[in-house]
Amino acid sequence: SVKVETLVLFGATGDLAQRMLFPSLYNLHVDGLLEESLAIIGSGRTAMDRVEFHDQVRAALAEHLPGDRLETGAVDAFLARLDYCAIDAKAGTGYDALAALLGERMERPIGVYLSTPPSMFGPIAQGLASEGIACAECRIAMEKPIGHDLASSREVNEQVGSAFAEDHIFRIDHYLGKETVQNLLALRFANMLFEPLWNAQAIDHVQITVAETVGLEGRVSYYDGVGALKDMVQNHMLQLLAIIAMEPPSSVSATAVRDEKVKLLRSLRRMTAEDVKAHSVKGQYSSGAVNGAAVAGYADELGDPSNTETFVALKAFIDNWRWKGVPFYLRTGKRMPQRKSEVLIQFKPVPHNIFARVGAGKLDANMMIINLQPEENIRVKVMAKQPGLDRDGVKLKEVTMDVSLSHSFAGERRRIAYERLLLDFIEGDQTLFVRRDEVEAQWQWIDSIRDAWAAVDMPPQTYTAGSWGPSSAIALIERDGASWHD
Ligand code: BG6
Repeated sequence: SVKVETLVLFGATGDLAQRMLFPSLYNLHVDGLLEESLAIIGSGRTAMDRVEFHDQVRAALAEHLPGDRLETGAVDAFLARLDYCAIDAKAGTGYDALAALLGERMERPIGVYLSTPPSMFGPIAQGLASEGIACAECRIAMEKPIGHDLASSREVNEQVGSAFAEDHIFRIDHYLGKETVQNLLALRFANMLFEPLWNAQAIDHVQITVAETVGLEGRVSYYDGVGALKDMVQNHMLQLLAIIAMEPPSSVSATAVRDEKVKLLRSLRRMTAEDVKAHSVKGQYSSGAVNGAAVAGYADELGDPSNTETFVALKAFIDNWRWKGVPFYLRTGKRMPQRKSEVLIQFKPVPHNIFARVGAGKLDANMMIINLQPEENIRVKVMAKQPGLDRDGVKLKEVTMDVSLSHSFAGERRRIAYERLLLDFIEGDQTLFVRRDEVEAQWQWIDSIRDAWAAVDMPPQTYTAGSWGPSSAIALIERDGASWHD
């Protein structure tokens, strides 16, 4: 695929651009990974000249990057790539100015990156097309969410699809840009150890936790009415689930990987009203303390009572041959006691305990814990014999095999997930981007839960900020004789 020569960034004055996108582009620039000829045009509604825009980006870099990365010469050289063009996407004005600014670059590959409210995706794609800024080699990247349910996501996909071909559309799920998430592929498919056991014969259940300590972070207008199910499960957690549970792709090509993910996503068992009562828990935090600091409850932060869930726990099933009967417990929430993203694979017990007769008692079943963030490690719990002459019986004890990725790869700079995604976008590699059919399969499952919730009228249960969610979330898994790994 050819590289884009101009990057046009919609939402350039927004929060994501300032926090992540410009710092990531700057890092790529400093590491020499951007072509000399790559120009970056920021776009927002605010009228601003080039100098004002440069000042804004300079301030964003200073705020969000460590000081030792910011050498004045490098910052200036980076800013020299940047231009600005005001576009009012809602009113549909400013595209002609963009075309004028692009000039001859119009004829060469352009990458348009949309970090705007999702309602603007379709209109911007069509605005660009109407000005001829959608050449055969042009491509477009979009942040989440794509729609708010299956029907609306189809609509967005249709609108954007009428201006850009699917193999030029890059749907972002920033979890796929995380090194540790990509490492799941290496773990599963570059090792012989695990794959033969990766199925219902050997695995009792799987837990996926994405816990955050943050609350609303000033995103009230976006978050309320959206909630944890759509904000986190629909995208990040289902992508994690797909990577953990999919069949082996034949290669890491975009098509092979995404074909397997979509197959898996389509095998998720949709939930009925009966299912959500037994297999889902919604929570909303009340005031409490996180890491020793007192924090307000969700409704207080919002200033209004609300039925939006800030926590969700689900027991999901994958209806296919490999995972028959294996529950996947998913859990995510704001204002949890600690920030952690973790996958736990609970294996079944050994079929027969040969040590029972010599008094060893019950054997703990093996467990594999994959920490994705902030710690990056893989631990496997195995049984070992406690040293001794065993006069009063054999003593076995659980020990941990511990692989710390940050130690094994010490010295490597931890990259922002967006560095990888932006570079892949510029170079045209779609492997770590979400295909249309994946997004739609994700929505299909989420819609089944939303519809069932609506049918049974399930308001969220409160949980104290700084706890692991409502007690019913604990009961959800303990009913099955298991427990969350906290
Ligand atoms: C975003 C959600 O997609 O992911 C946020 O909208 C959430 O609500 C964030 O906080 C979490 O991302 P990370 O990379 O901090 O785990």
